[in-house]
Amino acid sequence: MITAVYAHRGSKCNCPENTLPAFEEAMRVGSDGIELDVHLTKDQQVVVMHDEKIDRTTNGKGQIRNYTMDELRQFDAGIWFSAKFKHTRIPTLIEVLDLLADYPGTLNIEFKTDRNVYPGIEACVAELVERYRPHAPVVYSSFNHESLIRLKKIRSNADIALLLWERLADPWRYTQQTGATAQHLWQPSALSETAAQLQQHGIKVRAWTVNHPKNMEHAFRMGLDAIITDYPEAALDLRRSI
Ligand code: G3P
Ligand code: CA
Repeated sequence: MITAVYAHRGSKCNCPENTLPAFEEAMRVGSDGIELDVHLTKDQQVVVMHDEKIDRTTNGKGQIRNYTMDELRQFDAGIWFSAKFKHTRIPTLIEVLDLLADYPGTLNIEFKTDRNVYPGIEACVAELVERYRPHAPVVYSSFNHESLIRLKKIRSNADIALLLWERLADPWRYTQQTGATAQHLWQPSALSETAAQLQQHGIKVRAWTVNHPKNMEHAFRMGLDAIITDYPEAALDLRRSI
């Protein structure tokens, strides 16, 4: 079992997270998958960013949902990371899907719906994926499992993965009830006997966020289905070496 390497928010270690340069770099190093986070703007555009607010990763301030996409385009999403990335814009999901049009790896789209502030985001994302990425693998994840269940109701073929911090009391039954094929587990929960038990029940286990080489190696030797890491190139080098 070869453990896949997913680039967390793109190649986050050497590029501003959740931007086109970060996704380009993730592809360049050969990542098996790319993880990203989505929100809705005031004018219902799907935008790629981690936080609900733009403060940390742009030169602007405020909630994404209070801006239109045109307004968000005025902010710089690269300068906070390095001058080299000055003028990098906040990408829409369409721009990312366009960039990844020929990327054969898995796209892992995380709905940032923890506070239920984006009604309808699941359908918006599903429509874009159908239009721009109809044949390549996509896995949807969220800490808000209701969001994934909503998606599954409108797109029964959607591949969903439950984001979790800890092992659930009855993990296989709950996972099967939701229709999920995988759990995306916080690293300490994933690097435990829980993983093998889940895999024995046919549930894939992907661990986040695995950045230390010792933990990467542990995950590879355990045969986890994937690690989600800020250091995809280093993880791939390590995987080749063992
Ligand atoms: O999908 C794994 C990981 O991205 C979840 O946490 O906060 O980095 O989105 P976060
Ligand atoms: Ca994420």
